[in-house]
Amino acid sequence: MAELTTSYLGLPLANPFVVSSCSITGTAKGVRQCADAGAGAVVLKSLFEEQITAELGGADGGAGSAFAEEAQRWLAETARVNGPQDYLTLIRQAKAETDIPVIASINAVTSQAWVEYAGQIQHAGADALELNIALMPLNLKEGSDQIEEYICGIVRGVRKATTLPLTVKVGPWFTSLPRIVRDLVDAGTDGVVLFNRFYQLDIDPVALKPAPGYQYSSPAELPLPLRWVAILSPQIRTQYSLSTGVHSALDAVKALTAGAQVVQVASALYLNRVGVIATMIEELQRWLDDHGYPSVDALRGQLARAGFYQPEELERLQYIKALTGVS
Ligand SMILES: Cc1cc2nc3c(=O)[nH]c(=O)nc-3n(C[C@H](O)[C@H](O)[C@H](O)COP(=O)(O)O)c2cc1C
Repeated sequence: MAELTTSYLGLPLANPFVVSSCSITGTAKGVRQCADAGAGAVVLKSLFEEQITAELGGADGGAGSAFAEEAQRWLAETARVNGPQDYLTLIRQAKAETDIPVIASINAVTSQAWVEYAGQIQHAGADALELNIALMPLNLKEGSDQIEEYICGIVRGVRKATTLPLTVKVGPWFTSLPRIVRDLVDAGTDGVVLFNRFYQLDIDPVALKPAPGYQYSSPAELPLPLRWVAILSPQIRTQYSLSTGVHSALDAVKALTAGAQVVQVASALYLNRVGVIATMIEELQRWLDDHGYPSVDALRGQLARAGFYQPEELERLQYIKALTGVS
């Protein structure tokens, strides 16, 4: 039987399925359900920077932060009920009740007040830290270089504050993903999570109000992170965690083939149930056995080994095939 064990950010994992940061991992009970279903690791629900700054007496609004007054009030209230101290308790409970790696997550906007929490998160027993960096570039005067430098500054700040393994979760909207990923690695991250799937906005055209959009991904969203893990992993050495659109074991097979160290799953758990992780693990095992791979690690990065060394080649080839209809 193929070996499913692997490692992520230097942590030993029973398999490459990591539960993404989401509401399920926001309670110790949810974390236990994930562990019982066989998850290799969990990323806890993000601690939002506003929860920290509200507790400290108000957000200071760094690059890209544009919260309406109502949202600030809501966040301040949430911070009181569910603030950083509760988060540290969640880390301790998750560690006490399971034996899988527990990765904490901070949703970072500014690079100041909250950095000290990275140290507290480490002290509470988290095994690693994921920085969920989701800046909305709303300022007309701010260019991409400034925003990217800002993001790297956040990573440098956290790198100094903790010796925990560190990974950075970003969205896909950068002009040059190769450059930002390289810069993040230079800033001190041990890995990247490609990609975050931001809160979806919809509009109610009758009430003329913003409304929450559909929150769950579909397997049709997998090609985007798949492409970028395939392009970046042979070029920039870091740990790639593929997130968005993983709904089956076959999706995980594709991600590993592209070079992902692990995959993260969230929507699949909401659309099915947490127990779907066990099915994915079983099916991954069967796929590896059927295709003669002795382990998850043996499958990883096979796309590059099969000759797609040059990202230009990979991209150009796929483009031409799509245009000409040649398969
Ligand atoms: C209900 C819900 C809550 C989420 N909360 C967070 C969060 O707190 N922090 C975060 O980094 N991502 C959060 N996400 C995003 C997921 O971690 C994940 O990146 C995204 O859903 C794409 O993965 P998927 O296709 O497996 O769903 C959330 C997703 C859902 C569905």
